[in-house]
Amino acid sequence: MSALLSVENLEIRTTSRTLLSSVSFSIAPGERVGLIGESGSGKSLTALAALGLLPDSMRVAGSILLDGQQVVGARDRALVPLRGRSVAAVFQEPMTALDPLMRIGDQVGEVVRRRAARDGRRPGKAEVRAQVWALLERVALPDPARIAKAWPHEISGGQRQRAAIAMALACRPKLLIADEPTTALDVTTQAEILKLLEALVRDEGMGLMFISHDLPVVTTIAERALVMQQGRLIEEGPVGTLFNQPTHAYTQGLVAAARAFDAALEMAP
Ligand SMILES: Nc1ncnc2c1ncn2[C@@H]1O[C@H](COP(=O)(O)OP(=O)(O)O)[C@@H](O)[C@H]1O
Ligand SMILES: [Mg+2]
Repeated sequence: MSALLSVENLEIRTTSRTLLSSVSFSIAPGERVGLIGESGSGKSLTALAALGLLPDSMRVAGSILLDGQQVVGARDRALVPLRGRSVAAVFQEPMTALDPLMRIGDQVGEVVRRRAARDGRRPGKAEVRAQVWALLERVALPDPARIAKAWPHEISGGQRQRAAIAMALACRPKLLIADEPTTALDVTTQAEILKLLEALVRDEGMGLMFISHDLPVVTTIAERALVMQQGRLIEEGPVGTLFNQPTHAYTQGLVAAARAFDAALEMAP
């Protein structure tokens, strides 16, 4: 089966610095892949590159095939059809996806309408509303009718992230890119959102690129992980192998830190 996302020799530069070099990896349809590394290692740039959303000031070399379409050097017009149909994204801060001046139900409804238009359909108001409620239910938001009428500031951060996930789901993408989607949330909400994402991705058979600086979080959701440091991929493998037999000193450090944290939790009264 050909890859859903295939990145080869990706290099990203500004006029003064090389931010990413020799990054190569692929994600198969339905595969859940983690991207892990410290802050500033190039995880978000990799995601933005795949989405074709890098700032114009950056020079990009190499190849990114997303669902068969070359993203590097492509015009926006070629990328628009990919967004939503082939790929959707969820970011750390749910407000990046949400319009603060629009009710949650209207925002999700707009995506539902766009998705239907892609199939040449124009659903009526009642159908859109039913689909919006179903999506809000799907992401386990309580009382969809109430949430649909709410403004973003009226719901909690965890609920906003669920709404952002509902919008991504409404597109029914082949690949979901989640860039630190739980980092801004408290620990309990984090665990709930992770569980939700994993269930949704499995049920829909979507591919997942899950970005986190937290190795244990990645091992719960991904089958395979890529480790980045200073703009390079330094290690890659099934999450079990990475966690139990890390070969690179940096990965060993991540594992040791995670184990020390676990041990400290077990010692806690
Ligand atoms: N718009 C930008 N202009 C210049 N440098 C940037 C820009 N965005 C990110 N960088 C640099 O690229 C590197 C990787 O950033 P990023 O991909 O955001 O890291 P991560 O997501 O792993 O924390 C960092 O050194 C960062 O400072
Ligand atoms: Mg980042």
